[in-house]
Amino acid sequence: MTGQVSGALDGKVALITGAAGNIGHATAKLLASRGDRIVAVEHPKADCSALEESFSGSDDFLLLSADVSKEEDVKAYVDAAVERFGRIDIFFNNAGIEGAQASIPDYPTAEFEKIFGVNVLGVFLGLKYVLPVMREQKSGSVINTSSIAGLIGSANMSGYIMSKHAVLGLTRTAALEAADYGVRVNSIHPGFVDSRMLTDIVHNLGAPDTSPFADMVPVKRLASLDDIARAVAFLASDESSYMTGHPLVVDGGLTVS
Ligand SMILES: NC(=O)c1ccc[n+]([C@@H]2O[C@H](COP(=O)([O-])OP(=O)(O)OC[C@H]3O[C@@H](n4cnc5c(N)ncnc54)[C@H](O)[C@@H]3O)[C@@H](O)[C@H]2O)c1
Repeated sequence: MTGQVSGALDGKVALITGAAGNIGHATAKLLASRGDRIVAVEHPKADCSALEESFSGSDDFLLLSADVSKEEDVKAYVDAAVERFGRIDIFFNNAGIEGAQASIPDYPTAEFEKIFGVNVLGVFLGLKYVLPVMREQKSGSVINTSSIAGLIGSANMSGYIMSKHAVLGLTRTAALEAADYGVRVNSIHPGFVDSRMLTDIVHNLGAPDTSPFADMVPVKRLASLDDIARAVAFLASDESSYMTGHPLVVDGGLTVS
């Protein structure tokens, strides 16, 4: 079947939140193609059909339903992952939402709370329940998804910008704590990715399409989903064994100047 993946070469267990989304799905496929077993976590209301299609018939795949902003759901997805595969080697703490696009006076307070619930509390809770598993193992690699929005400001994106800056702060703090027991925690900071999220943001900001955004990037193109997945795979692997607390920027040079 086209796009179907199978693996189990090294058998590492990779837990991925937001796994049916653009970046999560691409990363799940790449890690599986390199031999990892995949635990995919998605919101109960998300359409997981394409993800399920990619992994249909695989024994090395588990799909779990959870709202990452609810503590009981996070505890349950971590427990279920450990029950099925016995360990968690890689945690791609990735689920996120873009929230509203509006200036601060017009930014709905309810949106602020919603975006913080997913992008900040969700990432924190993932760390809170996965790190003890990795501490017990004395090994593991965590990759939190921030954004270039975690490094710079952007008009009309206050909720998202604040939430992604918070992810970087959490990453640095978790890295310091987890270094004591041999676990690495890094963050990934994608720029403009050819994705549903960017297309919707561009539309809501009033631009006709993403081409002006691609022109802003020094390398003159948007990031592909695989550009991001490969960077996550690098942080997940032992090839990055001396990196922790690191914000890995994957933006085609957008934030260099
Ligand atoms: N697309 C981009 O241009 C871009 C750039 C920088 C950073 N990011 C970040 O990358 C991550 C993935 O984004 P994407 O582009 O794949 O977007 P996406 O919308 O395709 O995927 C996000 C996934 O998260 C899931 N999700 C949302 N709320 C959830 C919740 N409460 N519980 C469980 N799952 C939930 C969604 O169902 C969705 O499948 C996000 O954190 C996003 O902020 C994206």
